[in-house]
Amino acid sequence: MNQIRDRLAGAGHTVRVGHERTLRAAEVFRDSPDLIIVGSAVRKFSLSPVTKAWIGELGAELRSSNAHPRAAVFVTHALTTEATNRKGERIRSRLVDVLGADRVAAGWISARVKGPDGPFHEGVEEAVFRQIDDVVAWASTT
Ligand SMILES: Cc1cc2nc3c(=O)[nH]c(=O)nc-3n(C[C@H](O)[C@H](O)[C@H](O)COP(=O)(O)O)c2cc1C
Repeated sequence: MNQIRDRLAGAGHTVRVGHERTLRAAEVFRDSPDLIIVGSAVRKFSLSPVTKAWIGELGAELRSSNAHPRAAVFVTHALTTEATNRKGERIRSRLVDVLGADRVAAGWISARVKGPDGPFHEGVEEAVFRQIDDVVAWASTT
């Protein structure tokens, strides 16, 4: 997430990175973001229950506001992208449930790591940056 932040900040965007355990959805809303990138890591074949709860919180916050942010999903994982696809899609479908299909970027952004402490597989960082640039461009359209 830090590389993504640096890239977007370098392009002139205001970026805030927070952890799902400490950054509440209500705070995210106060910044009126154009785009929320929900990042998560696969651990022990499972999605983080904290990510699921955070998206639920986002839904509750949306119901009490008139904000219409867009969102994209970013998942770090060690297994193959194919093996992770269902997990990425599950996070995405939770976001679709709370934001609506037209507010959530298609697919999910995959960042495959070689081991628990990284690094990324070859070409992953460049591919992530390309997809991030695409979702940011999409989030900038009205
Ligand atoms: C305890 C543990 C369990 C993991 N289990 C999986 C797994 O089941 N599938 C997978 O693709 N990656 C697995 N990984 C790799 C993590 O997905 C990877 O380390 C993580 O995405 C890196 O992101 P982070 O630096 O934000 O933690 C596991 C890592 C740890 C430490």
